[in-house]
Amino acid sequence: MIQAETGRISTIVVSTALGPGGRGIFPYTLLPAYRWLLRAVRETGTTVFAKSATRFPRQGNFRAFNPLTWKYIKRLPDLGMLNAYGLTNHGVTACAGAIKVSGSQGFNVIPNFYPEFAKGTDTAIKETLEAIGLYQKLLGPSFWALELNFSCPNSQEAIRENVAQALKCFQDVKGKYPGLFLLAKISICHPYEFAQELEKLGVNALHALNTIPYEIVYPQKRSPLWQVGGGGVSGGPAFAAALDYNMGLRKQVSLPLIMGCGVRNREDVQRYLDAGADAVSICTLALRKPGEAAAVITSFNKGST
Ligand SMILES: Cc1cc2nc3c(=O)[nH]c(=O)nc-3n(C[C@H](O)[C@H](O)[C@H](O)COP(=O)(O)O)c2cc1C
Repeated sequence: MIQAETGRISTIVVSTALGPGGRGIFPYTLLPAYRWLLRAVRETGTTVFAKSATRFPRQGNFRAFNPLTWKYIKRLPDLGMLNAYGLTNHGVTACAGAIKVSGSQGFNVIPNFYPEFAKGTDTAIKETLEAIGLYQKLLGPSFWALELNFSCPNSQEAIRENVAQALKCFQDVKGKYPGLFLLAKISICHPYEFAQELEKLGVNALHALNTIPYEIVYPQKRSPLWQVGGGGVSGGPAFAAALDYNMGLRKQVSLPLIMGCGVRNREDVQRYLDAGADAVSICTLALRKPGEAAAVITSFNKGST
């Protein structure tokens, strides 16, 4: 658990698997096990990170209501997934509205925002600051923390190149909102120096890792999603590399760390905790085995409210 002056983050967090509002995604909500998961999340006060919002609505690759785009999310063996979702969302105003409703229903949701550096650094920073203003206005005092997604997985090069932009963005956000609890979500493609620089700039916690580019997990194979950058691997196939990265990261920074990527069961959670995690995130498990995700949550988050 991570205790801050303004709030807390539970030992197990659910990352992006409950949608942009953080209270579940249709049609998963039709599944009894997923509904059981939602109940466990609510009853244990589990922290939920919302799916990423951008400043304005964005059409990525995957769109829930267009079956032709469903190919951008695939199942892999060992409870794995490959996705090139591409950050489809309705923009920050709609996402904040959905988070507000989730809060009124008893969910503890922390927003996740994606600065679109492809638009240029200044525009991305301006949009990020505008987004924070909107979260404050729409969520009021329940808005105490924000996760900045610096790790969109669809292009390894783009992630590596965004370090300078992300640091500038983080610095400006921290300068304008020093009291906001800021988390940065990073990628296996980021050097540890990036995490160390973020720590120096005052990041409150790091979340490692986002999905892992396909070619890192399967160096000998071509991704079935090669035409859209290869996609990101999550769940079981990503666990070994993610644990290894996180064990190294733990030695480089002393701030709170949310470790994750690849968790399939309680044993995997325990391995992250043994590696020094302050909290552990799950996403794919919640989508592939919601009943197991609920069991993990009830065993680790019991009594944490
Ligand atoms: C279908 C899908 C969509 C995702 N969307 C987002 C997103 O919008 N923002 C984000 O920061 N991470 C996103 N992620 C990454 C997850 O939050 C998580 O960091 C990653 O999948 C690794 O954890 P896991 O192995 O437990 O799934 C997504 C993952 C999946 C599988």
